[in-house]
Amino acid sequence: MQSLNVKINSTEKNCPIIINDNDISALSEEVFNVIGKNNGLAVVSEKVFKIYGNFLKLPKERIFILKDGEKEKTFKTCQKILDKALKLKLTRKDYIIAVGGGVCGDIAGFAASIYMRGIHLIQIPTTLLACVDSSVGGKTGVDTRFGKNLIGSFYQPDCVFINTNFLKTLDERQFKTGLGEVVKYAFIEKSCGCDEEFNLINYLSLNSDKILARSNKILEELIRICVSLKISVVEKDEHESGLRKILNFGHTYAHAVEKLTNYKKYTHGEAVVKGIEFAFEFAHKRGEILESYKFVAEDLIKKYNFKKIPDLDIRKVLLTMKLDKKAESDGIVFILPSDCALVKELKTVDNEILKYFG
Ligand code: GLY
Repeated sequence: MQSLNVKINSTEKNCPIIINDNDISALSEEVFNVIGKNNGLAVVSEKVFKIYGNFLKLPKERIFILKDGEKEKTFKTCQKILDKALKLKLTRKDYIIAVGGGVCGDIAGFAASIYMRGIHLIQIPTTLLACVDSSVGGKTGVDTRFGKNLIGSFYQPDCVFINTNFLKTLDERQFKTGLGEVVKYAFIEKSCGCDEEFNLINYLSLNSDKILARSNKILEELIRICVSLKISVVEKDEHESGLRKILNFGHTYAHAVEKLTNYKKYTHGEAVVKGIEFAFEFAHKRGEILESYKFVAEDLIKKYNFKKIPDLDIRKVLLTMKLDKKAESDGIVFILPSDCALVKELKTVDNEILKYFG
């Protein structure tokens, strides 16, 4: 078992993150040790409920089954969760427990952040992407017709329980989408300001077979590394006013790919990998990195055999990037590699991108 802790000064909250491979049935006791005599409402992904059933051993009325898919991540669904909490007369001492992937964690977290101006929250991520990224750091939200995650809050959970056994039942594509975010951490490691050194690029390169075979011990260690890096960033900049932007490495291009393909053709992680490749190409063309480092990135990505995304029309990509919520009025913000496992922020304009990619 691994145990980490997030300490956010502004909230005075300590958030333990427990990573283990215990039998999933043990989670009920682990969760109730935190909740004590208080009540809970679990928001459980339908897919997870179908496979694992009521492993938290909660009364039926205390479970909200969340249908799968990004299309459920709306105010309307959030309202249903809040209605259920009101019907159960939950108080601010009680808990919302999110059990599922990124969509589930984001929407349940958002509901927890606004229910009576904030109720306790436990995250139980069940996808690799949620384990290494979305369950940690306190971003919550819903989508609107104007875009993804446009309404939301920063709301730290009280506790995150990561059990690697959930990852065994993910289909290959879902597992790989999480690996896309894992690869991201490798190339930003030294910019995260973490005291511990992991050399994640090497780790991913040497252990690709074991990682792809999903061995419990290796997954536990991999998640510990990624979560340690994320914590290090979030503790320094919870609200993304500076350092936290590095977690968007690969995402400027990725968001455009996802939007241009109507969020249907590629998973988030696949798009992030394409975005990382673009960032390396861009940095190399600008003379920021040596070609040999670009090859390191390409070789690592090859080892994981991600779904290939063809180059999209750069003019359409640019137009989409400019409409992204993270774009700034005077330019497009990229996180670019600058040296081994280091990144830096670049604000650029269309002409420069067209010069290299047009
Ligand atoms: N997923 C990026 C962040 O939490 O900032």
